[in-house]
Amino acid sequence: MYDYYLGGKDNFQVDRDAADEMLGVVPELFRAARENRSFLRRAVRDLAFSGVDQFIDIGAGFPTRENVHETAEAYRPGSRVVYVDNDPVVLAHARALLARERAVAVVRADARAPGELIDRVCEPGLIDFARPVAVLLVAVLHFVADEDDPAAVIRAFRPLMAPGSHLVVAHGTRSAGSRAVEKVTGAYSRATASVHLRDPERIEGFFDGFDMVEPGARFLPWWRPDPEDDLDAATRWNFGGVGRVPE
Ligand SMILES: C[S@@+](CC[C@H](N)C(=O)[O-])C[C@H]1O[C@@H](n2cnc3c(N)ncnc32)[C@H](O)[C@@H]1O
Repeated sequence: MYDYYLGGKDNFQVDRDAADEMLGVVPELFRAARENRSFLRRAVRDLAFSGVDQFIDIGAGFPTRENVHETAEAYRPGSRVVYVDNDPVVLAHARALLARERAVAVVRADARAPGELIDRVCEPGLIDFARPVAVLLVAVLHFVADEDDPAAVIRAFRPLMAPGSHLVVAHGTRSAGSRAVEKVTGAYSRATASVHLRDPERIEGFFDGFDMVEPGARFLPWWRPDPEDDLDAATRWNFGGVGRVPE
């Protein structure tokens, strides 16, 4: 569904039908998906530019335009990216499309089972945890229910993250208005993963133990917008930011 919102071609009729149903009632989801992807690009760009060259992208999704490894490589040549997802269809596409990329690994693991996820990411040759790493949880924790403890994966990674490491979180909110929120959660309840939108304060709490980098947690369009971004039309569907492990 997300790939369809982004204008991608890697989606199936069943995804398009569910996505169209949602766009019928909440047309701004198109914009919200692009705002999320744009935040991901800006965050990776700024981290790579500041010297981070290892990225663990959890809930990576289908390879699409401006993938994490492409942005990282553009700003920090030699960057290494480990893509993690729990959807076998996503993984099959990712492996096929990224097979020729030497600095990219694709791993099947679930954010709700952080111990196993970390075991996979710690396999030799993937990530050097003695050096700074960026852990990306972009548009994925809202697929983890409260009873599955969405913060557990962050707590599990935190002790492994060397000083100078970063956490990037983007998460769907309820701030867009209750009718729209009801429609979206209702439509997703019929999809493979139900969605759990959360309030900005709760999302900010995911950064406990990290120092927030400027400008702090924001609705995504307001996080270091590019000069050409049209903030008048921006939505409040997604909230997040970047935290840093203190030196
Ligand atoms: C909306 S896409 C986000 C893609 C990308 N991170 C972005 O923001 O552009 C969400 C992805 O998270 C994956 N996902 C959902 N729940 C997950 C879980 N518990 N563990 C790992 N991946 C998960 C889905 O399969 C999907 O590929």
